Amino acid sequence: YTALLMIVTIDGVAASGKSSVSSGVAQALGVPYVSSGLLYRAATLLGLEADLDLRGAPDLLNLLGAHPVRLEPLAGGNRVWQGERDLTDDLHSTRVDRGVSVVAALPEVREWVDAQLRALPEPFVAEGRDMGTNVFPHAPHKFYLTASARIRAERRARERPEDVPAIEADLQRRDELDTVQSAPAPDALVIDTGPLDLQGVIDTILTRLH
Ligand code: DC
Repeated sequence: YTALLMIVTIDGVAASGKSSVSSGVAQALGVPYVSSGLLYRAATLLGLEADLDLRGAPDLLNLLGAHPVRLEPLAGGNRVWQGERDLTDDLHSTRVDRGVSVVAALPEVREWVDAQLRALPEPFVAEGRDMGTNVFPHAPHKFYLTASARIRAERRARERPEDVPAIEADLQRRDELDTVQSAPAPDALVIDTGPLDLQGVIDTILTRLH
């Protein structure tokens, strides 16, 4: 793989399978993957635990400055640390899900995340919303995953088809909140994952990296 020494970016809408795809691509390439959303989630978790108003960037930045957070990119799954504390398992709670769009809308927090990502040693697969546009505009290989809200909801619901309408509505709401950061880079390959399974998406990307 010629991509082996470089950054591959994989962006896309919520629940498009970005993290599974990125992990699969990274493992095939033998490089780590980097889940940028986890840093937004960590900022949100710490703000909530400190009882901060999540719309207030200065307090949040002070907190993050005083207790640095570190992303550990591994091929199989990322971990997020604050000192000796492993935050990872607390980052997907409903509370964090609800608050993270507000935190991710703060330019100061976006700068904090971007600086951490740019300091990571290459190569890696970077996954998020704006990896190919803002954070790594010079990455040679960029991908953007889409799928209709209905298909994403059906994948999420799997064993509980009766939940599909509620999940679909929630995804549409998240899409709207996220639209600022979520547009494909002009030089990204847009992949509609609707007709593909996980391995199909991974293979589509790997084929492009030869
Ligand atoms: O991918 P995820 O669900 O873990 O992302 C969590 C939140 O962070 C979501 O609201 C989108 C936001 N995010 C972002 O704004 N920019 C990124 N590069 C990654 C995530």
